[in-house]
Amino acid sequence: MKAITALFALAGLLVLSTQVRADISPKQNEILEDLIAHYAGKAKEEAKNKARNPDSGRPFTSEAGREFYLKQRSQQLTDVSCSACHTDNPVNQGKHVLTNKPIKPLAPSVNPERFIDAKKVQNNFTEHCFDLYQADCRAYEKGIFLTYLRSAK
Ligand code: HEC
Repeated sequence: MKAITALFALAGLLVLSTQVRADISPKQNEILEDLIAHYAGKAKEEAKNKARNPDSGRPFTSEAGREFYLKQRSQQLTDVSCSACHTDNPVNQGKHVLTNKPIKPLAPSVNPERFIDAKKVQNNFTEHCFDLYQADCRAYEKGIFLTYLRSAK
């Protein structure tokens, strides 16, 4: 009996995981893979400067990406995390902390408009980091963040 229950649970999980994967379009998946590989190459370069980038040599994990997303950083006005505007789960619709304007979800699993143009993502990412923190985010940070977003559901 127990074995049968376990088998059903396993089958359920399998169905669930294929459904989740199907939510990201092949195009989004391809672009995310390419971007993550691109940032992995750059993070290797960063890692040579150990004093400044002690974490850049680590593999990208979604857990590290989630920490990056939730961590507060100083901004000129106030301390903000990415989640301040994008909520604590990127599948949700966000709201700008200052203007209250709605922001469409970041997670590609629920938003087919995200990550369909690699150049645009790279440019927006850099611009966005400068807007918020007066500096670009590091390649390691971009890599773990995209790894997290790709798995967000
Ligand atoms: C002060 C509010 C605010 C904060 C804080 C914020 N964002 Fe955003 N973010 C926005 C707005 C506004 C947009 C543009 C609206 C849109 O794309 O739907 C956006 C868009 C994005 C996009 C989509 C770009 C694209 O090409 O589609 C990504 C990715 C993103 N933010 C990541 C982050 C990350 C990572 C952080 C933390 C380091 C962060 N955001 C912090 C407001 C914010």
